[in-house]
Amino acid sequence: MHLKELSLVNFKNYETADLSFIKGVNCISGHNGVGKTNLLDAIYYLALTKSYFNPIDNQIVRHDEKMMMVKGIFDVEGKEEKITCAIRSGHKKVVKRNSKDYEKIAEHIGLIPLVIITPFDSYLILEGSDVRRKFMDGIISQENSNYLQTLILYNRALQQRNLLLKHFSREHHFDKDALEIWDEKLIEYGELIFKFRQDFINNFIPVFQAFYNKISDVEENVTLDYRSTLMEGNFRQQLIDNRNEDLLKQYSGRGIHKDDLVFSIDGFQLKKFASQGQQKTFLLALKLAQFKQMQDTMEKTPILLLDDIYDKLDEYRMKQLMRLVSDEGFEQIFITDTHADRVAAFFTELGIEVKSFEIKEGGAIEG
Ligand SMILES: Nc1ncnc2c1ncn2[C@@H]1O[C@H](COP(=O)(O)OP(=O)(O)OP(=O)(O)O)[C@@H](O)[C@H]1O
Ligand SMILES: [Mg+2]
Repeated sequence: MHLKELSLVNFKNYETADLSFIKGVNCISGHNGVGKTNLLDAIYYLALTKSYFNPIDNQIVRHDEKMMMVKGIFDVEGKEEKITCAIRSGHKKVVKRNSKDYEKIAEHIGLIPLVIITPFDSYLILEGSDVRRKFMDGIISQENSNYLQTLILYNRALQQRNLLLKHFSREHHFDKDALEIWDEKLIEYGELIFKFRQDFINNFIPVFQAFYNKISDVEENVTLDYRSTLMEGNFRQQLIDNRNEDLLKQYSGRGIHKDDLVFSIDGFQLKKFASQGQQKTFLLALKLAQFKQMQDTMEKTPILLLDDIYDKLDEYRMKQLMRLVSDEGFEQIFITDTHADRVAAFFTELGIEVKSFEIKEGGAIEG
């Protein structure tokens, strides 16, 4: 799996850009703020049809412009795939595969497996449970299209249920049958998602632990603990028992939309007790485990995006990371750094082919 050509129009700071990449390592250098991360984000967009950094699509359209387009030509196991994503103000987002529109954009997820590692990942430790659910969802969705479909259906049902709760409160009227229609949907889709997540985590933990111990120089007992309200007994019964509270809060308090992953190290919560270095190692192990798990289950090697890893890692860990990735048999890596040569020199030393790009002020790219 690799990206051969990339074209951008009005993507963030790029007015236009056209690039050809190699299978192997593509190094992108340039001063702070020239658009290195943006270039990785454009590749991420082609795989996941959204930005990794900006939740709102309008934010990725170049300032004062009305449309943006990203186009990529990929080699997917020997077959050429042309993917185009376009946003135009006032229109629905369009994603095309080989010039044909997807009916549902979600169908695209999984065609281009991709893993991104960036300094921004620390939000996985620091922020609320929604980002950790998204982390799980991002992996399972790429691996299994049923999962994403089920999740979309669950979220729709949840939204309807919450609207109904608000309606009851506004109208001072409660209709048990109407609520139970949505309860049934939550149960049907929620139990499936719960099972998917449980299976995923059970497979993921040993892979993650193995990577952690390879990166860390000391033996530590790290783990991810999957928590769900669905573990607290029968889901239908929970919905019934919680009904009064839901009505009061006008919000559904039970279900897989409240799931979390608790990260811990030697039995203590990572966020509160781990050092910066341990947190970095933890995040890196999470992402490498994601890479390996996706590679194994999808039988395609994900594209790897490494943003600013010198910001995260010292020389030793950086080299360790590169060695691990090489051992796992990557196919294509994109890596950004403010220094033009240090990453390239490292890979060249390992005998791995490198193509270097330098971004100048104003977004002009040489390479
Ligand atoms: N929608 C947009 N329109 C125009 N410019 C944008 C838009 N979104 C972001 N930018 C610009 O992109 C630039 C940041 O690019 P990016 O984050 O890719 O830089 P970088 O090269 O990765 O920098 P660093 O080395 O600091 O990580 C900023 O100057 C920002 O103003
Ligand atoms: Mg950057």
